[in-house]
Amino acid sequence: MKRKKLIVGNWKMNGLKSDLVHIIDISEHAAAHPNADVALCVPTTLIEAAGKISNYVAIGAQDCHAHNDGAHTGCVSATMVAECGARYVIVGHSERRTDQGESNADVKAKAQAVMARNMCAIVCIGESEDQRNSGNAIAIVIEQLNLSLPDVDNIDGALCIAYEPIWAIGTGRIPNMDEVAEMHLAIRQALIIKYGESAHDIHILYGGSMNGDNAQELLSIAHVDGGLVGGASLRATKFTPVIAAASRA
Ligand code: 13P
Repeated sequence: MKRKKLIVGNWKMNGLKSDLVHIIDISEHAAAHPNADVALCVPTTLIEAAGKISNYVAIGAQDCHAHNDGAHTGCVSATMVAECGARYVIVGHSERRTDQGESNADVKAKAQAVMARNMCAIVCIGESEDQRNSGNAIAIVIEQLNLSLPDVDNIDGALCIAYEPIWAIGTGRIPNMDEVAEMHLAIRQALIIKYGESAHDIHILYGGSMNGDNAQELLSIAHVDGGLVGGASLRATKFTPVIAAASRA
């Protein structure tokens, strides 16, 4: 079965209320490309307002706590972001694994919390430049994946994987097409081992310097079911060509 491509923008720590106009703009452009699904993971402070103005773009969060409530100063739970209207939550982004020291076990617990609240968890994995140069990137990423995957009986559209080579994030560099193809195939195979045939329904996104110039080629690779886009998702002028490429793919 052909999966509709999914393009997710990750605004990271960018965006004030004055930037909501860009979400309206992106949503209107997304409406012209109905063959792609589009989501924007915005800062927590914008989730609710963004949800009210984006008719053609689903809104998501960039993280959540694994627990539902309790003494965790400064954190927000999956229930809280769901209440604000989030439909996706990114978990285990490499920036959080590095900056906040999140472990695979943390990521797994967060993914389970997200799925338990009927949102889609986007589980991020990816190798560092040293790991890529070691020649063991696939084994390293698949181990990270296996330790981060939620233990759930039913996927039901509520799980995505984002393969983001750390060295490609924000650098303008991307792996070659063969490297992307072999990593995404290895991820699919690991997902099938874990979840059986329902793993074919899981979107495997590529992330790391995806833009309007390279999206079409990346999205033509087998098992690249969409993209997780940082810098190029902040404005419709840069994001729309990626959405258009996904709609054509
Ligand atoms: P860039 O698209 O800016 O490289 O960021 C990728 C990313 O980290 C998305 O989560």
